[in-house]
Amino acid sequence: MMITNICCIGAGYVGGPTMAIIAQKCPHIRVTVVDLNEKRIAAWNDPNVNNIPIYEPGLSDVVAEARGRNLFFSTEVDKAIDEAQMIFISVNTPTKTYGVGKGMAADLKYIELCARQIARVSKNDKIVVEKSTLPVRTASAIKDILDNTGNGVNFQILSNPEFLAEGTAVEDLFAPDRVLIGGDTTPEGQKAIQQLVDVYANWVPTDKILTTNVWSSELSKLTANAFLAQRVSSINALSELCEKTGADVNEVAKAIGLDSRIGPKFLKASVGFGGSCFQKDILNLVYIAKSYGLNEVADYWEQVIIMNDHQKRRFAKNIIKTLYNTVSGKKIAFLGWAFKKDTNDTRESAAIYVADDLLSEQANISVYDPKVGIEQIQFDLNYLETRSEAENLKGVQVATNAYEACNNAHAIAVLTEWDEFKTYDWQKIYDNMLKPAFVFDGRNLLNKAELEKIGFVYQAIGS
Ligand code: NAD
Ligand code: UGA
Repeated sequence: MMITNICCIGAGYVGGPTMAIIAQKCPHIRVTVVDLNEKRIAAWNDPNVNNIPIYEPGLSDVVAEARGRNLFFSTEVDKAIDEAQMIFISVNTPTKTYGVGKGMAADLKYIELCARQIARVSKNDKIVVEKSTLPVRTASAIKDILDNTGNGVNFQILSNPEFLAEGTAVEDLFAPDRVLIGGDTTPEGQKAIQQLVDVYANWVPTDKILTTNVWSSELSKLTANAFLAQRVSSINALSELCEKTGADVNEVAKAIGLDSRIGPKFLKASVGFGGSCFQKDILNLVYIAKSYGLNEVADYWEQVIIMNDHQKRRFAKNIIKTLYNTVSGKKIAFLGWAFKKDTNDTRESAAIYVADDLLSEQANISVYDPKVGIEQIQFDLNYLETRSEAENLKGVQVATNAYEACNNAHAIAVLTEWDEFKTYDWQKIYDNMLKPAFVFDGRNLLNKAELEKIGFVYQAIGS
């Protein structure tokens, strides 16, 4: 049976873009993306396609093409489940904030709710696809719920983790390095795998579609993120040593990256990795390893997080130290708040933690980010519960452009590598700052020689 009706539960950073691309590439498949969040669904349905809730280069064009044709966004979850042959679960799986595994394990309550809802609603056989990132062996829990609370229909569970990176989601989905599909080794499991392979084969070359058993697929997702984050922590660890020894981390990264066994990508030293997944997935991996008594394995991966926390902290500490050991009452301009360029996502962004440390030292922060506004910034800071909401409001302003943010500032901190930051009139910015005018470049983005010539005191990561 060919799949002609797909439902995806969760219209977030993964569900939205992934389903938009499936719909665009497979006009014969009706794709309905559902979410409990009415505001989010309304934004996906906004007649002005530039108002969709997620900023990703190229995404609005894809949505414009497919929306209303075979791509639909809705809050009617039951209806979409009922009509679909294949249901993707793409809900959030954050780190638990309570109970056993607090601060480490993945919180699977949203996944379980989806499974129970699918079981309750389904009146015919369905393929359930784990798109969310899940701890290894979650498929067996989902199966248990489906088989014990359902209406006697048959479910096949597949694992199909998503590897897109934010900011490049559309290009990653158009031309993925690989698509991974895990399923049961039974004939029914193999048949379900093939049905999902057939969906992707509409645009992904079949040699890039990898099929495995469910557990390998689930674990590969956590492993991929752990390896990627480990590279960032590795180069960041060395960046501190570079600063002490006169080596330059950019030169070191280039020198080692030319070794084809190491490769050049993901070796950019920074103020620390952010994003909704690296930290959460590694903590989850650490938790799983510990739960099997594998303490050395757990400690090994935990170090990636410890290093990343250190990198964020030492960036803030260095600002304070360099500004004569006090930032109290001083205006510090933040260029960037998102966790990387070309996204409006701020989850776990290093900027949040650097701001938090500087606010504790009574700095006044003025932020400019091309895609992030005051509401989100205040939400991010309030979420930490370090101080009252009123104090966060008092300590952080948001500027409408970078020149305004930097006006009368003692220092600039570059937290996100937005391209536009490179194109500014840096002489003008310098002229309007207090002297000495400091730049702390947490992304090694700006031109050191040019800035120093203007008169800035410029500090980068790892040199
Ligand atoms: P998100 O928070 O942006 O979106 C999740 C959505 O699910 C929310 O809109 C929420 O309202 C909705 N939801 C939760 N429970 C629901 C329910 N019971 N019924 C209907 N809707 C419900 O999260 P995201 O960034 O899209 O991530 C989703 C999953 O994908 C996570 O497991 C994450 O680890 C994984 N992932 C994320 C990325 C990424 O770049 N963000 C990449 C690969 C994998
Ligand atoms: C990451 C992975 O790259 C995706 O494959 C994965 O699907 C996704 O997590 C997920 O599971 O959520 P994402 O977090 O969107 O994607 O973005 P990345 O490009 O990986 O960047 C993560 C963080 O690392 C950013 O803060 C970025 O600035 C930082 N980074 C990245 C560096 O500091 N240096 C680098 O060399 C690369």
